[in-house]
Amino acid sequence: MKTWLWGISLVAGGLPVDATFCRCQPGQSCWPSETNWAALNKTIGGSLVAVKPFASPCHNTTFNAADCAIVQDHARNSSYRSSQPGALQWENWEAWPQAEEQCYINAPQSAPCRQGRVSLFSAEVRSSQHIQAAVKFAAHHNLKLVIKNTGHDFLGRSSAPNSLQIMTHWMKNISIVDDFVPTVPTGVDAPGGVKAVTLGAGVQLHDVYVYLRSKGVMIVGGSSSTVGAAGGYIQGGGHSVLGQLHGMASDNALEFEVVLADGSLAIANAHQNTDLFFALRGGGGGSFSVVVSVTVKAHPDYPVVYATANFTTSPDDPFWAGVDAFHRHVPRLNDNGGSGYYSAIPLTPVSENQTVSTFLLYMMFVNQTSTSAVNASFVPLLADLKNATGVAPAYHVAAFPTLSSLYTTLFQGSDVTGSQVLLGSHLISRSLFDSGDSSKLTSAMSEMQLGLGELVVGMLLSGGQVSRNRDIESALNPAWRDTLLHVVSVRLLSANMTFAEQKAVAANITQRDVPRLKALEPGKMGAYLNEADANEADFQTSFWGSNYPRLRAIKHKRDPHDLFITRKGVGSDRWDESGLCRVD
Ligand SMILES: Cc1cc2nc3c(=O)[nH]c(=O)nc-3n(C[C@H](O)[C@H](O)[C@H](O)COP(=O)(O)OP(=O)(O)OC[C@H]3O[C@@H](n4cnc5c(N)ncnc54)[C@H](O)[C@@H]3O)c2cc1C
Ligand SMILES: *[C@@H]1O[C@H](CO)[C@@H](O)[C@H](O)[C@H]1NC(C)=O
Ligand SMILES: *[C@@H]1O[C@H](CO)[C@@H](O)[C@H](O)[C@H]1NC(C)=O
Ligand SMILES: *[C@@H]1O[C@H](CO)[C@@H](O)[C@H](O)[C@H]1NC(C)=O
Ligand SMILES: *[C@@H]1O[C@H](CO)[C@@H](O)[C@H](O)[C@H]1NC(C)=O
Ligand SMILES: *[C@@H]1O[C@H](CO)[C@@H](O)[C@H](O)[C@H]1NC(C)=O
Ligand SMILES: *[C@@H]1O[C@H](CO)[C@@H](O)[C@H](O)[C@H]1NC(C)=O
Ligand SMILES: *[C@@H]1O[C@H](CO)[C@@H](O)[C@H](O)[C@H]1NC(C)=O
Ligand SMILES: *[C@@H]1O[C@H](CO)[C@@H](O)[C@H](O)[C@H]1NC(C)=O
Ligand SMILES: *[C@@H]1O[C@H](CO)[C@@H](O)[C@H](O)[C@H]1NC(C)=O
Ligand SMILES: *[C@@H]1O[C@H](CO)[C@@H](O)[C@H](O)[C@H]1NC(C)=O
Ligand SMILES: *[C@@H]1O[C@H](CO)[C@@H](O)[C@H](O)[C@H]1NC(C)=O
Repeated sequence: MKTWLWGISLVAGGLPVDATFCRCQPGQSCWPSETNWAALNKTIGGSLVAVKPFASPCHNTTFNAADCAIVQDHARNSSYRSSQPGALQWENWEAWPQAEEQCYINAPQSAPCRQGRVSLFSAEVRSSQHIQAAVKFAAHHNLKLVIKNTGHDFLGRSSAPNSLQIMTHWMKNISIVDDFVPTVPTGVDAPGGVKAVTLGAGVQLHDVYVYLRSKGVMIVGGSSSTVGAAGGYIQGGGHSVLGQLHGMASDNALEFEVVLADGSLAIANAHQNTDLFFALRGGGGGSFSVVVSVTVKAHPDYPVVYATANFTTSPDDPFWAGVDAFHRHVPRLNDNGGSGYYSAIPLTPVSENQTVSTFLLYMMFVNQTSTSAVNASFVPLLADLKNATGVAPAYHVAAFPTLSSLYTTLFQGSDVTGSQVLLGSHLISRSLFDSGDSSKLTSAMSEMQLGLGELVVGMLLSGGQVSRNRDIESALNPAWRDTLLHVVSVRLLSANMTFAEQKAVAANITQRDVPRLKALEPGKMGAYLNEADANEADFQTSFWGSNYPRLRAIKHKRDPHDLFITRKGVGSDRWDESGLCRVD
């Protein structure tokens, strides 16, 4: 198999058949000349940028007080960060520990600012032609290519050292198509039209919800202002409070317009380029092509009842007893049409020397209007929480006429990001709850011994249509179809930790937090690739289960020279950590 792959991928492309094959690096004779860069710039309408890390105005030789003040003002502003080619949403992915390079906002002014994993050049593309030009340029010059949309990725997939970035941020077109008919090859009968929404590569969720608010339709989208609608979100699966009614975001994709690794434009849907259509629905962003736009099914803008509950205890036993009481109600809430999120923050700082434990629950009952029905769902839960913790939980309920109105109320344009975070996660099945083992999940969470401000999040976004869509042909992790809860632990790093200290935190996630969750159902479930441990062990099986071999074959066929390689993406197993050199 290996010989066959090498034969196709390297000899055919005229590249060296050599296990130490690397991308071209700055300073090497293969690196594009000024003239080459200027030619690319001209082709893409002058939108090529030489990129400096976001915080560079705050440091040493590049210090500039006024510009640094702007950076500091926007340090936690995800909307601003998404528009900057030199920023990611999580500062740790701007750094490159292996080369000891960082440019942290909170590092001392005297500290040098080094490029790290921030791309050297960015093509701030505005059309499919721009994307084609950038793809061809990267392929021709053997450059490491990165696709950055919003930069939210938790596994570092939207940055890489010494790379050329395609930044999709400005591709903001949104349109409703009343009678969408997929493009079919000649000789094939087109299916009947359906109502759909077409989203450009740079559209963010808040843009979508604001646009759709007055149109009476909604799409299956996430709970955020600034996550991209067409990038890593839907290509990695995409969970949503509409999941129970309509499945995963990727289940709702009708067609992708893409730029392939050879620079050509193509349409992938259920009728043509079906291998790509399979891969783009759950195979993970950045691995198969550059998506120019995606068309997804439109759904009604349903009414929704929004309910929240919370309790605060001393950081002690009653806290986890409360979480455990909640877990016993999870399947019932799901059966009653509830979707949502909860956070358990065992050490919430309240003052210099004092911490409390906090549990926060946000639930949405989509396509429901009766607050009394939702109240009735909550009555036994609230009683059990009180019995378990000794404190009466706070509870609030409100009906919203439409999901878009709730979403534009909750997500007003920006999310809070900019910190340094690493996740651990696993999908937990309905059958764990049905067999009465939910207390094992509570124990796994409490045994993580989360630190100050760290949290564990539970997401109740599946069941219903997510499970019923089991037979959809897509790369989505099959474990999603059995999932009731997606559990994510959030660990914090900080600018004043050494890279060795950061590595120790990461090791604990991979060696302790994730194995604790996996051990609940050994060998059975998997993890959601968009919100997972950045160093997930055996990521191929965790993220795609039985779909991996098929995905890998599609990858080799569609991207024979591995132009599209991302951390922990399909085919990344034969590249080093930075995607710069082949390792096999
Ligand atoms: C605040 C917040 C809220 C979130 N809420 C949800 C949620 O409700 N539901 C959910 O499922 N997930 C959620 N996520 C996770 C989210 O899905 C991932 O972070 C996802 O990777 C974001 O995709 P992006 O395109 O916005 O980000 P980026 O980091 O820019 O891109 C992610 C990956 O997709 C690739 N990519 C981006 N654009 C393209 C393109 N046009 N063509 C090909 N590849 C592309 C990139 O190369 C990278 O590999 C949330 C994350 C955050 C930080
Ligand atoms: C690309 O061209 C624009 C407009 O001519 C110019 O402002 C910009 O500096 C150029 N980019 C690079 C990297 O030279
Ligand atoms: C965040 O940045 C955006 C620009 O991207 C700006 O419009 C918005 O006002 C900023 N928000 C805050 C809270 O500063
Ligand atoms: C700051 O930059 C100057 C000039 O490049 C350099 O000599 C000095 O060592 C730098 N300081 C630090 C702390 O790196
Ligand atoms: C966006 O829409 C405008 C107006 O319809 C159109 O001119 C433009 O080509 C579109 N851009 C992209 C990238 O599709
Ligand atoms: C916190 O604890 C330290 C050390 O015990 C003490 O000096 C300080 O006064 C305390 N701060 C508050 C706000 O109680
Ligand atoms: C939404 O609710 C209405 C009224 O109860 C019902 O007829 C319809 O089937 C529901 N839609 C979905 C997708 O469940
Ligand atoms: C639902 O519960 C809330 C909070 O307890 C209460 O204020 C409200 O009146 C209840 N609504 C209905 C319709 O019972
Ligand atoms: C309260 O919890 C205890 C166990 O902690 C249980 O024995 C008792 O039945 C509960 N009471 C109610 C009213 O639920
Ligand atoms: C808990 O819920 C109450 C009622 O909705 C709300 O006022 C309060 O701010 C919430 N507490 C936290 C910590 O979110
Ligand atoms: C390290 O940084 C964190 C936040 O970034 C801060 O809270 C903490 O005080 C810092 N610790 C030291 C020793 O400077
Ligand atoms: C790793 O986990 C162990 C056991 O929970 C803990 O003692 C240690 O402090 C953790 N290390 C880091 C760097 O978080």
